[in-house]
Amino acid sequence: PETITVQELANRMAERAPNVIKTLMKMGVMATINQPIDADTAELVVAEFGHSAKRVSEADVLDGLGGADDRPDEMVSRPPVVTVMGHVDHGKTSLLDALRETDVVSSEAGGITQHIGAYQVTMHSGDKITFIDTPGHEAFTAMRSRGAKVTDIVVLVVAADDGIMPQTIEAIRHARAAEVPVVVAINKMDKPGANPDRIRQELLNHELVVEEMGGDVLSIEVSAKKRLNLEKLEEAILLQSEILDLKANPNRMAEGTVVEAKMEKGRGSVATVLIRRGTLRVGDIFVAGTEWGRVRAMIDDHGNRVEEAGPAFPVEVLGFQGTPQAGDDFSVVEDEAKARDVASYRQRKEREALAVKSARGSMEQMFAKI
Ligand code: GTP
Ligand code: MG
Repeated sequence: PETITVQELANRMAERAPNVIKTLMKMGVMATINQPIDADTAELVVAEFGHSAKRVSEADVLDGLGGADDRPDEMVSRPPVVTVMGHVDHGKTSLLDALRETDVVSSEAGGITQHIGAYQVTMHSGDKITFIDTPGHEAFTAMRSRGAKVTDIVVLVVAADDGIMPQTIEAIRHARAAEVPVVVAINKMDKPGANPDRIRQELLNHELVVEEMGGDVLSIEVSAKKRLNLEKLEEAILLQSEILDLKANPNRMAEGTVVEAKMEKGRGSVATVLIRRGTLRVGDIFVAGTEWGRVRAMIDDHGNRVEEAGPAFPVEVLGFQGTPQAGDDFSVVEDEAKARDVASYRQRKEREALAVKSARGSMEQMFAKI
């Protein structure tokens, strides 16, 4: 059955929680501030306060999030979103740094850059590519699987002097599960022990057949350190992206994914959001996972303030009420009431799920002792 906590009920009526507790007592119900009360009781309380109650169903609350599909004539070409994956220390971040240096915009701007984990590189041709960095460490499996979900193409980085390692294999699995094409970057070609043929051979064991072996997977020999073949890699990515014919509707309320989120002193909760479709603007009200907010400011990967962000654009968003989690869905909603409703509904669901989990945990502990 539907329940609501005393605190939440108080919030929704904009009344103080102790007053709600008093009213409940008058009705013969003893409740603490965090106690859930059933919908019928809540409705009586609401009436006592002279408000009118409106029960909302799950559909009411979540409707409009992840809204309708776009018509083909609304679709506009967008840059590919490329996630860089691979084993720890194989050079993912170095490769991204090197690619960013080829960014015409960044070299013009003089390059005050921020580390937001997602970048958009503009090539000399004018084509743009959005890159997402992922850590290779095994503790970050969840992050990598989320990375594979928001992405159009995976660049698999393999160190030429090392070979296929556990996180390389895991990245291949993620890419396959997400049905995302892979471009292989055989990195550290400057190193004396570099053996790209062996890498291509080993990839066969994981059903990744590169062109040189008669397959259709592109593999580029690069060196992040010596800046070798970076343009070739970009061209390979663009070739893949042309085949995918990527499009999105920029003219709708924005939807996207939280790529990174943290609490910062003096700035509050900030999150890097990658827009999937629609356009995000300063002032927009949004829900992200169990949190909501209003866009106070947006900052691009060059540290510049921007007024709007369209499809495949990564921006740092300020104005969250709380800190969301990486991987959370981000949706603009029509007004604050809706945002509050959705966020509190999701928070309640999360609490309920946690309660079930901890109840299960203590049961297991109990049985373990017997
Ligand atoms: P994690 O994020 O920890 O998984 O590592 P990563 O894959 O991002 O690797 P990172 O870019 O941090 O590089 C790891 C080490 O390899 C650093 O010491 C780099 O300087 C070195 N490195 C990266 N690319 C190259 C390269 O092309 N040649 C050589 N010789 N060294 C490289
Ligand atoms: Mg790294």
